[in-house]
Amino acid sequence: MADTLTGRRIIITAGPTLEPIDPVRFISNRSSGQQGYAIAQACAHLGADVTLVSGPTALPDPLGLKTVRIETALEMLDAVETALPADVFIAVAAVADWRPANRAEKKLKVDKSGFTGLELVENPDILKTIANRNENRPGLVIGFAAETHDVENLAIAKRARKGCDWIVANDVSGDVMGGSHNEVSLVTTDGVEHWPSGPKSAIAAELAGRIADALMQNA
Ligand code: CTP
Repeated sequence: MADTLTGRRIIITAGPTLEPIDPVRFISNRSSGQQGYAIAQACAHLGADVTLVSGPTALPDPLGLKTVRIETALEMLDAVETALPADVFIAVAAVADWRPANRAEKKLKVDKSGFTGLELVENPDILKTIANRNENRPGLVIGFAAETHDVENLAIAKRARKGCDWIVANDVSGDVMGGSHNEVSLVTTDGVEHWPSGPKSAIAAELAGRIADALMQNA
């Protein structure tokens, strides 16, 4: 069991992204990175060669794998593309949907410099970009979907929209963001499977095992 992912390359995104407004302000979100880090560790535990591309988190770099620290969504996409090719890509990061169109060199002054508000532009969708690559598309591309209601139906639609193979649908109606437990459903071509609520480490271990099984079936 311990070496079922030996020889497999897996890239995982985790944590939030941070989009600077000026030298002291930014747009971000409350993702702790725990679930992505736990998945990275679980895959490494099964022998995989893991690259974890992480936004800013309070977590230490996990042992036994490569961690690439980035801040913005553009940097995250660049780091993922640099880490290709891979057998599996898992997008766990809570990527900021928008970034400020311009990053001010100096701290914005609300009263003096005629600041009229923030112009935002959309960030690239990293999961969709990797899932739709013609060259070097990982054989198994997995996304996460954070939903508060109608979790499974929204996840099925998201899987099709993103072009990924699996979606891990996250019920975030409780205290999942930052909490140590998670409750997920796995959406694949075979349908939807609901997993019981458990520690993020247990969800990670289950997912890593499922990935190993899937790669073995396609070997
Ligand atoms: N994702 C990404 N790049 C983005 C946005 C999202 O890689 N710019 C990935 C996330 O890592 C995750 C999945 O896409 O795997 C989440 O998709 P998203 O459309 O952002 O869904 P939700 O966060 O659930 O938000 P909503 O459906 O409410 O838009």
